[in-house]
Parts: sequence; C-alpha cells; structure tokens
Amino acid sequence: MLELKKMTKMLGDKLVLRNITLSLEKGEILAVIGPNGAGKSTFFKCTVGLLEPTSGEIYLDGSLVKKNSPQVKQRIGFLGHESFLYNNLSPLENLKFYGKLYKVKDLDRKANELLKEVGLYLFRDMPIRSFSRGMMQRLAIARVLLPDPDILMLDEPHTGLDQEAVTLLNNIIKNKRYSGTSILIISHDFEQVHALADRVAVLRKGKIVSTRRLGEEVSLAEMKTWYEAEVKSS
Ligand SMILES: Nc1ncnc2c1ncn2[C@@H]1O[C@H](COP(=O)(O)OP(=O)(O)OP(=O)(O)O)[C@@H](O)[C@H]1O
Ligand SMILES: [Mg+2]
Repeated sequence: MLELKKMTKMLGDKLVLRNITLSLEKGEILAVIGPNGAGKSTFFKCTVGLLEPTSGEIYLDGSLVKKNSPQVKQRIGFLGHESFLYNNLSPLENLKFYGKLYKVKDLDRKANELLKEVGLYLFRDMPIRSFSRGMMQRLAIARVLLPDPDILMLDEPHTGLDQEAVTLLNNIIKNKRYSGTSILIISHDFEQVHALADRVAVLRKGKIVSTRRLGEEVSLAEMKTWYEAEVKSS
C-alpha cells in the first residue's frame, strides 16, 4: 500500500537517512524503533511530506507520490511531535477547523463522537490553552482520526498519555487495523510496540538494519534481546 524506495535525506552535511526501503501493507501495524538520533522522526517527516527526501521514491498503491500531493494529505493521517492545534480554540472548534480543511462530511456529529472517544467531551467548549499535555495529546489523536485516513503514521503517540488513555489509544489503533487501516508507529515504548505491532523494523544510524514479524510466540523479553543485538552488531 505504501512503499518507500531508497529514501535518503541529507540535513546540513549529514546523511541522516541512508537508502531506506520499506513497505507498509494494508491492515498492518508496523513499528519503527531505534536509539535517539537514529533518524526516526526525519524518516517520519519525509514519508508524510513535511520534509522532502534528498533522493528516493514513495509509492502509494503503486503510483509515485509527488511533493505536496493533496492525495497524500487526504490519505495519510499523521501525528508528529507538534500537535497542530490552536490554543485559543476549544477542542470542538479545533476539530471543526480541521474538518473543514479536509472537507469532512457530517463534521459536527463526527467531531463530537471523536471527542467522546478520546474522553474530552466534557471539555469540548473550553479553550485548550490550559489543557495538560495528555489532554492535548488526546485531542491531537482525535484530529488525526477525523478525516478517516487509510494510513496512520504516529510518531511516539503514547507520549504523555496516562494508563487509561494508553489503553484507549491502543484500542483505537487495533480497531482501525481490523477495518483495514495501515498503521506505522514510531516508539521507544517497547511494551506498546509489543502489544500492537505485527512487524518491527530497527532503524540505526539512518539505516533499517533489521525487520521481523512479531507473532504470538515472540515474548517482550525476546523482542528486547533481539533489538539490543541488532543495535549493537550492525
Ligand atoms: N535540521 C537539522 N539539521 C541537521 N541535523 C539534523 C536536523 N534535524 C535532525 N538532525 C539530525 O538528524 C539525526 C536524526 O534525528 P531524528 O530527530 O530523526 O532522530 P530520532 O530517531 O527521531 O531521535 P529521537 O529518538 O530522539 O526522537 C540526528 O543526528 C539529528 O542531530
Ligand atoms: Mg524523534
């Protein structure tokens, strides 16, 4: 569904991504893990179009994705380190603003439904200026889900969430997967990666050094051992 071919990114004089070739299948949850500074967020930004790769191609359902393609904006929902929310607006106003931008149908009902889903319905009319980090993250998640994208790209989505919100987010992710959405997660949280991912890729020094499928039989401890070995050896 989404394919990256030999993606490279130079930042300044540093080669931050080196020939990344990776694909995301329909209805798959793929996790990308790796040490700080490995290039995960850069990889994420290049894939969603926030940065332009220095070389390489991105294909969506077999066709080449061009820079700033509206097709990509409609189909990929991404949650990065910035929330893209407006402090002076309430949760409902924020969602309606984005919904109009993305031409979401039945916006009012959908926005209210999502606010219920992420547990912010009671706060729907309050300016989000005073919101806690976790509340902001919950709203950012609702924003990403609003246009109903068929690909979700999430950069450390569990950051700042309490236990209840982690469970809530994981349930949303799993339900989306069952309905055919493809999901790529970047995370340092091995427990969540283990709970969610169908496949894991290790990014180290700008390179994908290993990928593996996570079946039922792979324990969390085993996944950690594998990761540590991959990060050391390559
Ligand atoms: N604007 C920039 N100019 C030059 N180098 C940059 C720039 N942005 C990031 N880098 C470098 O690119 C490398 C990868 O950074 P990136 O943020 O992608 O890492 P990451 O894997 O997401 O790390 P973390 O786990 O800490 O979030 C780092 O070495 C960083 O110093
Ligand atoms: Mg990062």
